[in-house]
Amino acid sequence: MLYNQTIHLKNGQECLLRNAEGADAEGFLGYFLKAHGETDYLTTYPDEAECDLGKMSERLSLTAESDCDIEIVAVFDGRIVGSAGINRINPRDKTKHRAEFGISILRDYWGLGIGSALTAACIECARAAGYLQLELDAVADNQSAVNLYLKYGFKEYGRNPRGFRTRSGKWQELVLMRLEL
Ligand SMILES: CC(C)(COP(=O)(O)OP(=O)(O)OC[C@H]1O[C@@H](n2cnc3c(N)ncnc32)[C@H](O)[C@@H]1OP(=O)(O)O)[C@@H](O)C(=O)NCCC(=O)NCCS
Repeated sequence: MLYNQTIHLKNGQECLLRNAEGADAEGFLGYFLKAHGETDYLTTYPDEAECDLGKMSERLSLTAESDCDIEIVAVFDGRIVGSAGINRINPRDKTKHRAEFGISILRDYWGLGIGSALTAACIECARAAGYLQLELDAVADNQSAVNLYLKYGFKEYGRNPRGFRTRSGKWQELVLMRLEL
């Protein structure tokens, strides 16, 4: 699925939203490690990430050519500052209508409208790909993310009180959300 749009941020500056490509491996990994170290609300700790640039490049290339998955990066001043993606949950007939949505943005760029633009882009791509439902889990305390999803029409359908357990032993309740497309 192809996506390429220049958006205007709340501060008036421009930001490019486009597919991640194999050549982005280094920039993508840099952004990914930083973003995952800046918040306790994501699933992966930075030291659990796949850091092999060859494997990252291959994964991004395959996704760029995929009909069912997409990874869109937000590029500001030539640098990847955020990304969002959708992935088919399972290709079997009974589940192939469902995709999972994920998003993260570097802390310095929060509040500028990038999260909204990436979410809208992924919803558009999910519809174009023929999905009928987009799903996600968010840490219940993550008010920015929960508000963002509510703004785009996601609805809560349940909670998992022991969804995450942090390395310090703290439980993080997950809100399960879905959007009918
Ligand atoms: C959640 C996240 C993606 C939001 O991205 P963002 O670019 O800051 O969001 P935007 O500026 O586009 O704001 C979009 C909406 O999010 C909500 N939001 C954003 N910041 C908020 C804040 N500080 N408090 C409450 N709601 C907030 C609002 O509903 C906002 O809509 P509005 O601008 O019409 O008020 C970003 O904070 C992030 O990457 N956080 C760390 C990673 C993460 O938590 N990912 C989600 C995991 S489930």
